[in-house]
This record gives sequence, structure tokens and C-alpha cells, in this order.
Amino acid sequence: MLQHRCIEMSQVDPLLQVTDLSKHFSLRKERLWGGEPQVLRAVDNVTFEIGRGESFGLVGESGSGKSTLARSILRLHEPTSGRIVFRGTDITHLPERDLRPLRRHMQMVFQDTKSSLNPRLRIRDIVAEPLVTHKLPHSAADVNELMDKAGLSEVFLDRFPHQLSGGQRQRVGIARALALSPDLIVADEPVSALDVSIQAQILNLLKVLQSEMGITFLLIAHDISVVTYFCQRVAVMYLGQVVELGPSREVMGNPSHPYTRALVSAVPRTDPRSRRSRIVLRGEIPSPLSPPTGCPFHTRCPVKIGPICSEVAPPAYPTASGGWAACHLLAPGTGASNSASSPLIQTGEGKV
Ligand SMILES: Nc1ncnc2c1ncn2[C@@H]1O[C@H](COP(=O)(O)OP(=O)(O)OP(=O)(O)O)[C@@H](O)[C@H]1O
Ligand code: SF4
Ligand SMILES: [Mg+2]
Repeated sequence: MLQHRCIEMSQVDPLLQVTDLSKHFSLRKERLWGGEPQVLRAVDNVTFEIGRGESFGLVGESGSGKSTLARSILRLHEPTSGRIVFRGTDITHLPERDLRPLRRHMQMVFQDTKSSLNPRLRIRDIVAEPLVTHKLPHSAADVNELMDKAGLSEVFLDRFPHQLSGGQRQRVGIARALALSPDLIVADEPVSALDVSIQAQILNLLKVLQSEMGITFLLIAHDISVVTYFCQRVAVMYLGQVVELGPSREVMGNPSHPYTRALVSAVPRTDPRSRRSRIVLRGEIPSPLSPPTGCPFHTRCPVKIGPICSEVAPPAYPTASGGWAACHLLAPGTGASNSASSPLIQTGEGKV
């Protein structure tokens, strides 16, 4: 973990610092039936920083802990252990009363706009909701301005969410998130429920808002190409842990961790001349109720190098991308490199 931290601490002016953060759920149902209480390790010892004005992406398969990590950062879940510092304040265990003034600086945009927007409220009231909740004076012109920033016509103001399309509803979610001029917006799969053409429009809107308003983004997505388009840096999650972190374009162009290589290989190529084989991972992601020992990816890793992978948790090693990856292949002396032609890392079906 120390190594993760050393590499991460090089960031300047961090808005958010997450250190060794874990969120474990205790499954009480098991206890009712007389069994041992089971612990689900949804997020395990995650460390990273996000600089002011930066866009930072989180990618990983379904169930890898992305939403739980985001919700823990926003204190919508109580962290099990670790530390969250936001705007220089340690908010990990801050009582709700003291957290409240800081909450306005961190807003969330959700995937499912049907459940995240109150169906009984008109759009004007949904957009103004955060201002009302935080007892901030506002006018109709302020709401109009927020609608405008989110690219929504004022004709929608008197409508209800069900009268809008999915893309329009997501714009309402964005307008609402902008209401308090937040420093940080956490967008959890903001486009994955939308048609591909609408996805690009919403991502472009977020990009414009980021550059015009200097908002810091934590963007969660399944698709590493979405994150590469939008984010300067990316963290790849697997089974509750970050396994690789680095500048998005470099990670996408030259992934170091075998799991990242598999994710990248699944992205369709627009250039037919570029050759890359799809890496098909065998088996399911293991249960976070009984995560594997050693490297969390060892049960599916196509280039596992031996007992060390199942016995010893790999530390973070620096990568050519300027980030780090937690894989024994990167240990000095293994002969592995970040080159796709490395003898230890081959491309091809079933291999990384
Ligand atoms: N409130 C909860 N109680 C118990 N387990 C939970 C809870 N919330 C999430 N989990 C479990 O934690 C793990 C991580 O879930 P999470 O929703 O964070 O993953 P995710 O990466 O966001 O997945 P997806 O891409 O499908 O949204 C999963 O095994 C999930 O079942
Ligand atoms: S540590 Fe071993 S099992 Fe884990 S990703 Fe690296 S090579 Fe694969
Ligand atoms: Mg999720």
C-alpha cells in the first residue's frame, strides 16, 4: 500500500484523497439462520487522489465495487476503514451535522434517472431541489440558467420526468447536480442506460461543463473507452481493489495489468488496420464473500506465473504509463515489460 501512496501523492492540489478505504457489508441474514456472519468485501484498501479540476475514471466489471466506492466517498455508506479527505477536511467519520455544509460541494449524477428523479415533482422543482434543501435563496432565473447550462429548453420546466426522454432526464439530473456549484461531481454510469448517439451528447455536455466550470469529475463506467474519452486518469477495479491506475490514454494504449489488457482488448477498434486479439477471460468474477488469496485476479488470469500469484498479494509497481499496477509480472527481474511483444505477455485468444 505504501507504494500506491508514494505514486499517488505526486498529484498537486488534491480535492479528494482516499487512503486505504474499505467498505465491507456484514450480511446479517446469515446470522439469523445461526451461521457465522458473512462479510462481503465490496471495497478493499483503495487509495487514490483526484486533483482539482481533474476528471478521474473508475472502470471494472459489474460487482467490482465501483458504486460502493463512490457511495462511501460521499458518505452515503459508512466506510469500514480507511480515510477520506475532501477539500482538506477529513470527512471519514465527520458527524452528519458537520458534513452537511461540505455535502453541497459534492454532487452525484445517477445511471437510473427513473428512480433518481422524483416522479411527482415538476422539472423546475427537481432542478431547484438542492437549493431548497440547503435553504439557499434562488429565483426562477437561476433555475432557467441551470436548464440552459444542461442544454434543456425551458419548455420542459413544467413537465414531469416521465414526459421526458432518457437523455433529457439525464440532463435534468445534471442541471440538479450543478445547482449548488459543486467542486466534485460523481457520475455513476451516467450514460450506460442511454442510446449510443445520446451517450456522446451527454458526455460532450459533461466535458464542456468541466472545462467551463472547472468541476472535478469522478466518472464511473463499465466501458474503458468512455473513461478514456472523458478522463485524464483512470483506476481499474477488480473485486473491490484497484489493480491499475494511470493516465487514461496511456493505460488504454499500453495496459500493464492482465485484467486491464483484457478490458482494453474488448473495445472495438475503429481502425481496421490495427490488430489486437480479443482476450476472453474464463470463469466468473469470484464472490466478494470469499475473495481469492494472493492476487484477486489469479483465478482468471491467463498469464499467472505460479504459486506466488495465489499466495502473495502483489504490491503496486510503477508502469511505463506513469501510473502503477498491482501484478507480480511487473516485479523487477521477472523479465516482463509493458511491451505487447514481451515473452511473458502474449496477445491471442485466451491470452493476454
Ligand atoms: N448494500 C449492500 N449490501 C450488501 N452488499 C452490497 C450492497 N451494495 C453492494 N453490495 C455488493 O457489493 C459488491 C459491489 O457492488 P457495486 O454495486 O459497488 O459494484 P459495481 O462495480 O458498481 O457494479 P455495477 O457495474 O453492476 O454497477 C457486489 O457484490 C454487491 O452485491
Ligand atoms: S499477479 Fe499473477 S495472477 Fe495476478 S494479474 Fe499478475 S500474473 Fe496474473
Ligand atoms: Mg454500480
